[in-house]
Amino acid sequence: MKASPVIAMNDGRSIPQLGIGTWQISDGEDLPALVADALRLGYRHVDTARAYGNENGTGLGLAASGVPREEIFLTTKLWNDEHDREAALAAIDTSLERLGTDYVDLFLIHWAKPEQGKYVEAWKSLIEIQQSGKALSIGVSNFPEPQLEEIIAETGVVPAVHQIELHPYWQQRELRRANERHGILTQAYSPLGSGGAVLHDDVVAQIAAERGASPAQVIIAWHLAIGNVVIPKSTRIARLAANFEALDLTLGDEDIARIDALDRSDGRVGRDPVNDAP
Ligand code: A2P
Repeated sequence: MKASPVIAMNDGRSIPQLGIGTWQISDGEDLPALVADALRLGYRHVDTARAYGNENGTGLGLAASGVPREEIFLTTKLWNDEHDREAALAAIDTSLERLGTDYVDLFLIHWAKPEQGKYVEAWKSLIEIQQSGKALSIGVSNFPEPQLEEIIAETGVVPAVHQIELHPYWQQRELRRANERHGILTQAYSPLGSGGAVLHDDVVAQIAAERGASPAQVIIAWHLAIGNVVIPKSTRIARLAANFEALDLTLGDEDIARIDALDRSDGRVGRDPVNDAP
C-alpha cells in the first residue's frame, strides 16, 4: 500500500507529511466510517481538535479501522479557554477519553490569543503534558511570530510543529522562515484554501491539465514539494483517495515557481491570529 513520506521533527520523532484534516466535519454518524476508510486507503495521520467537536467520532473511526494505534499519528488541540495550567491538564484527559486512546502523537495550542496573555502558561502546561506521556510531541497553531519567540525564550522548549493557514493564495513566507530558523515544521491548514477560489485558479488549472492531475492534487503536491506537512479535508472518500494519489505527482521547479508566484496580500480565508482569533 502507498504510504506518505514521514518527516523528522526536532524532538526526534517523525510525522507523516500528508494526513487528513477534520475541521468542519461534524461528529455525526458518517465521521467514524470516513476516518476508518481514510486509514484503509493508507492515511496514517489524522488531525482533530477539541473545538471541532468531533473527537468522539474520530476516535471511533480509529478503532473501527483495525489499524494498530501505534501506526497512526493523531493530533488534537487545546482550546482557548483552557490556557490555565489546571484547565490544560484537565483538557488533555478529556480529549483522550473522547478519542478513546491514552496518548496523542501531537498536542497543539490551538490559538495564541495574544490579548488573553496566557499562551506562556499554556505552553508550560503542554511541556508538562509531554513529560507525562499523554502527548508524545507538542506544538502550536496560529502563533504570530512575537508570541512564538516568547514561548521559546521563556521555556527553552521549541515547538515541534507550527500549524498555520497556508495555501497558494496565502503562503506565509515570513512565518515559514521563522519556523525554519527554529527547526519547527510548518503544517498547513486550509491547504486547499478551504475549497475556495484557489481550486479554480487558472495557473493551477493549467499545471493540472499539463500533468494530467486535478487542481487539488497539484496544490497538495506543491505543499509536499516545499516541505509542508499538509492535512487536506474532505467529507468524500473519493476525494480523500484522489488527494492521497497526489503523493505520486512530482512537480517540476518551474511548476513550483509558478505556484509560488500566486501569493496574494488578501488571500487569507480564515481568521487573523493577531487580532481576530475565535
Ligand atoms: P468536500 O468536503 O465537500 O470534499 P481545506 O482542506 O483547504 O480546508 O479544503 C477543504 C475543502 O476543499 C472542502 O470544501 C472540500 O470539500 C474541498 N475538497 C477537498 N478535496 C478536494 C478535491 N480533491 N477536489 C475538490 N475539492 C476538494
